[in-house]
Amino acid sequence: MILTDLYAPRANRMKASEIRELLKLLDRPGIISFAGGIPDPALFPSDAFREATQRALSGEAAQSALQYAASEGLAALREWIAQHMRSLGVPAVPENILITSGSQQALDHLGKLFIGTGDAVALGFPTYLGALGAFNAYEPLYVRLDPNGNRSVERMREEAQGAKIKLAYVTPDFANPTGETLSKAARLAILAQAEEMGAAIVEDAAYQALRFEGEDIAPILALEAAQSGTIETCRTLYCGSFSKTLAPGLRIGWVCAAKTVIDKLVLLKQAGDLHAATLNQAIVAEVAGSIFDTHVPRLRAAYGARLRAMLGALERYMPDGVRWTNPDGGMFVWLTLPPDFDATALLSRALEHDIAFVPGAAFFPDGSGRNTLRLNFSKPDEEMIEDGIRRLAGLVREGPRQSQPC
Ligand SMILES: Cc1ncc(COP(=O)(O)O)c(C=O)c1O
Repeated sequence: MILTDLYAPRANRMKASEIRELLKLLDRPGIISFAGGIPDPALFPSDAFREATQRALSGEAAQSALQYAASEGLAALREWIAQHMRSLGVPAVPENILITSGSQQALDHLGKLFIGTGDAVALGFPTYLGALGAFNAYEPLYVRLDPNGNRSVERMREEAQGAKIKLAYVTPDFANPTGETLSKAARLAILAQAEEMGAAIVEDAAYQALRFEGEDIAPILALEAAQSGTIETCRTLYCGSFSKTLAPGLRIGWVCAAKTVIDKLVLLKQAGDLHAATLNQAIVAEVAGSIFDTHVPRLRAAYGARLRAMLGALERYMPDGVRWTNPDGGMFVWLTLPPDFDATALLSRALEHDIAFVPGAAFFPDGSGRNTLRLNFSKPDEEMIEDGIRRLAGLVREGPRQSQPC
């Protein structure tokens, strides 16, 4: 029996992620990897996690840490996150928070809640690959949104060909893959466009805390709540994560939104996995409460130095005609090669020289952007960045030679 014949039509849109395949390469000895989007494990606050784990598993605490828990999440963690959201200008209380298994699950649940077959989602081209992966299962049509608000609602509606645009997905801070940040004016413009379209905004804030330069810009949810005087009527659904600040392996993220939306998401969470791992929530609540405010500045200093090393090396070695973004934080720089380059072909040559990156086309729902690529600077150290960019630039200087795509 051929089971593939029995798959639901939505399975056709589920494809293996190029990033996941590439992550396998990170284990190859000697490789300088600018692929993946992973934090440097040397910077994990392992001691704090070890102590918190011991406490969570000692005496009576162990009985609750190893037990089933409420689908919305542990009270102590929701409390900490609500307070954190208030520090960002969002007037949240714990009832506005749902704990998810990573913010990736939040994207999936929001897709499940809002996208019906034939609905449309507006998002930037390029966009976070994992968001496309999460939304694809609900079979939306994608329409191109200019995150700076320079594409009219009329254009987007035309592209949607009568489909209702349900969600506008944006990553306002140090976006994956471009590293770009939206100004306050751009955030207000997106809000106005979403209002005009009658769409909800998914504000993916996975990198929000990793700012190395300049002043924090208020989340879209904070700007909207300030306009309306309450979070309860807001159309913005904020997705947060501890993956980039504490550690991704515990898989703890959250949604901050109006209580009515949280109540509905709790039902989806129940149906999906009942709740995020109780032990992990207890550990993250303790570690966030004790070291978040001192640990994040350490990450900012370390990653900021790596970003400067990457920008310096790009400046020194890349030939004329190559452009790149100049991020204020996050983990990525986005490179645009001259139009006759194919970044996937370049990757196969780069791998022969032990250099890895992600070809940009993977981040475009329409497969365009063949001459673009994403460089991660959070994992390699400064010396590797210098060496890796010098070698990569050498390959770019050889020109757009054709080779076997990998
Ligand atoms: C923009 C963005 N959103 C969400 C996620 C998912 O993060 P997590 O599920 O680990 O919270 C990632 C991970 O790389 C990301 O880059």
